[in-house]
Amino acid sequence: MSENDHPHAPKKTKTTAPVSAFRKSLGNEKGLVNSWNEWDTLEEIIVGIADKAVIPPKEPAFEMKVKDSGKIHMLEGTGYRTEQSIKMANDQLNYFVELLEGEGVVVRRPDVVDFNVPVKTPDWEVPRMNTSACPRDLLLTLGNEVIEATMSWRSRFFEYRPYRGILKDYMKRDPCMLWTCAPKPLMADNLYRSDYPTDYSAKNKELVRNYIYLTSEEEPIFDAADIMRFGKDIFVHMGFTTNEFGFEWLRRHCASRGMRAHMLHFPDDLCPFHCDATFVPLRPYLALENPARPMEPFERRIFEENDWKLITAAQPNTMEMPALSQCSPWLCMNVLSLSEKVIFCEETEKEMMNLFNDYGFDTIPVPFRNVFEFGGSFHCVTTDIRRRGKKQSYFKALDAQEAAAQ
Ligand code: ARG
Repeated sequence: MSENDHPHAPKKTKTTAPVSAFRKSLGNEKGLVNSWNEWDTLEEIIVGIADKAVIPPKEPAFEMKVKDSGKIHMLEGTGYRTEQSIKMANDQLNYFVELLEGEGVVVRRPDVVDFNVPVKTPDWEVPRMNTSACPRDLLLTLGNEVIEATMSWRSRFFEYRPYRGILKDYMKRDPCMLWTCAPKPLMADNLYRSDYPTDYSAKNKELVRNYIYLTSEEEPIFDAADIMRFGKDIFVHMGFTTNEFGFEWLRRHCASRGMRAHMLHFPDDLCPFHCDATFVPLRPYLALENPARPMEPFERRIFEENDWKLITAAQPNTMEMPALSQCSPWLCMNVLSLSEKVIFCEETEKEMMNLFNDYGFDTIPVPFRNVFEFGGSFHCVTTDIRRRGKKQSYFKALDAQEAAAQ
């Protein structure tokens, strides 16, 4: 009996089609899943939905976040967000999808999942979950690989569920796709420092300056939105949603793929959560920084030594945020690049658009403030799946160091 006649021999399915044939059918040299940075020309993207979203339950990490945004009343939330706010957010998300499709981008949406469901593991229980408005927080595309992040809040532990349909489909259709789940954290009580001050005292400042955050180093954790992709290099925003253990998992994972990972710290941000309102690359050798949250000078040097220019974001149009938004007004920086020449911006952020225009970008203004309550703006509510370019290094000095070390 030859190997293939064996009753348990793997059956030939579409997923085993030769990789070369698949690539040809796509008309380019890459697979369906292929995105190495934040700026190459966009071809396919996941955009979140607001359906059945809830106000997250009280838990240590959420508590600090709402205190930071002055929205302490959110801790009293008990269930679904209002039908009206869900509709208003969905209307803006759908309009954004129309614009993307008008630009020729393939858009995928998560499955509708009920978040008003209590969840329980052997270590903890929470009365409800969160939302599928922010795929960026969960899914990290590194080239042909999609990584499901560990997540860091209990209410977000099961946030992969609405995306499984899409990921299974990519896995079936793209024989080059890698689908990875980072180690599931236990999220037991010892992952959260129960004595962490949340009053913006001198003690708070001292802790953040010493890189001691609300979450401990008990086990690896990271949210995907803490990562900014620059081709061969990724930069990881350290804080309440990503710890050093989580960074180490990412660093080794990247090394196994011929990539490099670097930490970034922003010690003036007393509630460091996700990179995309703090530091945002726009195109090769140009990135946007938050004037209120300067990067550690020794980390800034990597950019300077590699000819990157860091430009300062304009002030937000208003400091007023929607009543149930947990985010800061720096969502004005939370843009999405359609290409290295065109950027989607919130329509009221005129100063930001002027800044982008000064640097030679075209901007597409989009009304989006009704989405903010669901966790963020354009970058948060998307995960790019395919962009046109390939893996490249934009850090020649690091390449030279690497070569010298070999
Ligand atoms: N921590 C950021 C701020 O309020 C919000 C970032 C939201 N990003 C996201 N991917 N959900 O300034």
